[in-house]
Amino acid sequence: MSTAGQVIKCKAAVAWESGKPLSIEDVEVAPPKVHEVRIKIVATGVCHTDWEYLYETGKGMKFRPFPLVLGHEAAGEVESVGPEVTDFSPGDKVIPLFLPQCQQCERCLSSKTNLCRKNWANTQVGVLADGTSRISCNGQQVYQFLGVSSFSQYTVVPDTSLAKIRADAPLHKVCLLGCGVSTGYGAAVNTGKVEKDSSCAVFGLGAVGLAAIMGCQISRAKRIIGVDINPDKFEKAKMFGATEFVNPREHSKNIQDVLVEMTDGGVDFAFECVGSPAVMTSALESTTDAWGLCVIVGWTETEAMNVVVEKILMGRTLKGTYFGGWKSVQDVPKLVDDYMNKKLKLDEFITHKLPLDQINKAFELLKLGTSIRTVISLWPEKANPEMAS
Ligand SMILES: NC(=O)c1ccc[n+]([C@@H]2O[C@H](COP(=O)([O-])OP(=O)(O)OC[C@H]3O[C@@H](n4cnc5c(N)ncnc54)[C@H](O)[C@@H]3O)[C@@H](O)[C@H]2O)c1
Ligand SMILES: [Zn+2]
Ligand SMILES: [Zn+2]
Repeated sequence: MSTAGQVIKCKAAVAWESGKPLSIEDVEVAPPKVHEVRIKIVATGVCHTDWEYLYETGKGMKFRPFPLVLGHEAAGEVESVGPEVTDFSPGDKVIPLFLPQCQQCERCLSSKTNLCRKNWANTQVGVLADGTSRISCNGQQVYQFLGVSSFSQYTVVPDTSLAKIRADAPLHKVCLLGCGVSTGYGAAVNTGKVEKDSSCAVFGLGAVGLAAIMGCQISRAKRIIGVDINPDKFEKAKMFGATEFVNPREHSKNIQDVLVEMTDGGVDFAFECVGSPAVMTSALESTTDAWGLCVIVGWTETEAMNVVVEKILMGRTLKGTYFGGWKSVQDVPKLVDDYMNKKLKLDEFITHKLPLDQINKAFELLKLGTSIRTVISLWPEKANPEMAS
C-alpha cells in the first residue's frame, strides 16, 4: 500500500539534549513539501561529526537546537516526492547530502568551489526551506541534522540535497560515500591534488584519514606517513597504502619536528583529520616551508590555530576542505561507480554492523577507537537482507 501523501510513523534515534545518549522513539515523518523528497533510509554510518554535535554542543561546538535526529552518512530509497520534483521517482536508490548542489547559484556555476549555499542557513539550524522540520515526536518538532537526519527510518530532504545512484549499488556499503570516505579521499585528490612521488603525512586514522591515505596512494605518492596516537590504527592504514607510521606518544619531541627530520625538511602534503587545534598546528609545521600544503579536514568550532605568519610566508599553503571538494549531486554517483569498478575501497572501512537500537554502542566504539565505521541498519535484517552479507 502506498504511503505517499500520508504521515509515516517509524523509529528514529532522537537526541533530546546535548551530552546524553540517543533514545529510540516512535516519530512521525510528514510528507515532502515542494522540491522535497521523502526517503526510506536503509543504512547509515556514524561519523565523528555526529558524536561531536551530540557530546560537544555548547562546549567545543556552538549551540544547536535539540531535540534532534542526527546522522548524515546514509543511503536509501525514494518513498515519495513532493510537488515540482522532476529528478526523482519512488524506488530510486539515493544518497542524501549534507552539502547540496543546486546547479544554479554562483558557487555551483563556479569550478572553484563545491560550497552551494542553497537552504544553507536553514539546514544549519535543523530545518528545511520553509523553516520547519518534517520529523516530530509526540507532537514536538524534532530538528533535522544538517538537513538530513539519517538516524531515522524515514526522512525528508530537499531535492537539491540528494544524489541518485545506480540500482545495483549495495546501500549498506555506499552509505559511507555520504560523508567520511568521500571527504578524506577528496581532500587528497581534489583539495590537496597530491602529486606523484610526493611525501604525505595524514594525521588521524579514522575513516576520514584512511580515505585521505587512499587518495594519496591513488595519486601515487611515494611516502605516506600515518600519524595517530592509537597504534591499533596502523594495520588498517597499511591496507589503504600508508608506508610508515608515527605515534606522537612515542616521541618526546614535537611530532612536527619528528616528521621534518624523517623527511629531511618536511612533507609536501599534510592532512589534518582529527579536528584538534594543536594537531592542526603540527600538520602545518610538518610540511616543507617552501611549498608544503596543509589541508584541514577535521572539524572544530573552537578557536583553532594561532598561525605565525613566518610559518606561511616562505611559501606554505593552508587550506580547508568541505566534503572533499566534491560537487555533491554530480560527483557522488561517480564515486559509487568507482567503488563498483573496484577503484575505491569501502568494505575495508566497515568494522562493525549494528541495528538502530544499538546506535549508542556505535558512538562508544568510535570514541574508544575500536571501530573505523559502524554501519547501522535501520530495519530488521529480514526486512533488509543486504545487511546479512
Ligand atoms: N571537512 C569535512 O567536510 C568533514 C567531513 C567529515 C568529518 N570531518 C571531521 O573529520 C574528523 C575525523 O573524522 P572521523 O570520523 O575519521 O573520526 P575518528 O574519530 O574515527 O578518527 C579520528 C582519529 O584521530 C586520532 N587522534 C586523536 N587525537 C590525535 C592526535 N593528537 N594525533 C593524532 N591522531 C589523533 C584518533 O585516535 C582517531 O583514530 C572529525 O573532526 C570530523 O568532524 C570533516
Ligand atoms: Zn560526517
Ligand atoms: Zn548552488
